[in-house]
Amino acid sequence: MSTEPTRNEPTRNEPWTPAQIPDLTGATAVAPGANVGLGLHTAIELARHGAAVVMACRNPDRGAAALGQVRAQVPGADVELARLDLADLGSVREFAASTLAAHPRIDVLVNNAGVVALPTRQVSVDGFEMQLATNHLGHFALTGLLLPALLTAPSRVVTVSSNAHRMGTIDFDDLQSERRYSAWPAYGQSKLANLLFAMQLQRLADRAAADLTSVAAHPGYAATNLVASGPGAGGSIAGRVIGLATKVLGQPARMGAWPSLYAATMPDVRGAEYFGPNAFGGWRGHPERTTAKPNAYDPDVAARLWQRSVELTGVDYGALTPKEN
Ligand SMILES: NC(=O)c1ccc[n+]([C@@H]2O[C@H](COP(=O)([O-])OP(=O)(O)OC[C@H]3O[C@@H](n4cnc5c(N)ncnc54)[C@H](OP(=O)(O)O)[C@@H]3O)[C@@H](O)[C@H]2O)c1
Repeated sequence: MSTEPTRNEPTRNEPWTPAQIPDLTGATAVAPGANVGLGLHTAIELARHGAAVVMACRNPDRGAAALGQVRAQVPGADVELARLDLADLGSVREFAASTLAAHPRIDVLVNNAGVVALPTRQVSVDGFEMQLATNHLGHFALTGLLLPALLTAPSRVVTVSSNAHRMGTIDFDDLQSERRYSAWPAYGQSKLANLLFAMQLQRLADRAAADLTSVAAHPGYAATNLVASGPGAGGSIAGRVIGLATKVLGQPARMGAWPSLYAATMPDVRGAEYFGPNAFGGWRGHPERTTAKPNAYDPDVAARLWQRSVELTGVDYGALTPKEN
């Protein structure tokens, strides 16, 4: 993917929309959680602008339906479907192996899939708390396993966080929320982990002089399935209220994908930046650069979380780790 400025860059007076995405012909993009919500709109726009898109979805039927939607909206789209369950490290390894075999070069990875505020503590196949497993550890493992292809080209890794990172802390003494589980703090922890990961990945890429740009994005508040499958899943009154609020107050899902799309494609993006909507305190609007809370940039917390993530996933990012003499 070219990093030269193009005529599609936004002007000062023109709010950014996906119409300004540069030509992505020849680029390969991997989009986890592409069957619905932000991920589907991310896949549609990447394909519309010429990228070959691997739609990585955990449910084959929902994935096939989404593949059909992309093809209907983008005739001739170069899209394929692959199975990926981020809450199962075996599935992540299988997906990575088959994707590396088919695509030795990956230009764009959008770590987008997620679950939110599960009312009761659930665990992944590997025994990790489900939000940490899906939102952070699964993407951590996926990115590390795809590194050989990401390091073949100047590549972009976009990790999707949330305003909810502000309510998160990394509880190293109870990372898996075994002693105390609370739905929103656990989500906040996973979304803070997304930011710490994005920033630390850029630090390691810089140290290794790798041509990899790692950034983060958040959608503000977007009307997607996220709440219905999280706090709304139990049918509680609170869940239904949040679900209704999301439908009424949330911006359309396609707009929620814009910060990710800007971060994934625009030539002026630099490593360790964070993108989100520009209006209503970052809850809706067109993409702009934003800042996370200060401890998202703490290199010590990031390094400690990174080490724990290596131990938990067994993915060591060898290609970016300085070798000891
Ligand atoms: N919507 C918002 O207002 C909002 C706000 C802040 C941040 N976000 C973030 O935006 C991202 C996308 O969310 P969304 O709003 O588009 O929600 P969504 O419509 O619920 O989409 C979530 C996607 O993640 C997939 N997914 C969930 N668990 C998975 C797993 N174990 N393995 C693989 N895929 C899995 C889902 O697949 P299934 O269809 O199979 O469940 C779905 O494709 C998330 O990271 C979320 O935290 C959203």
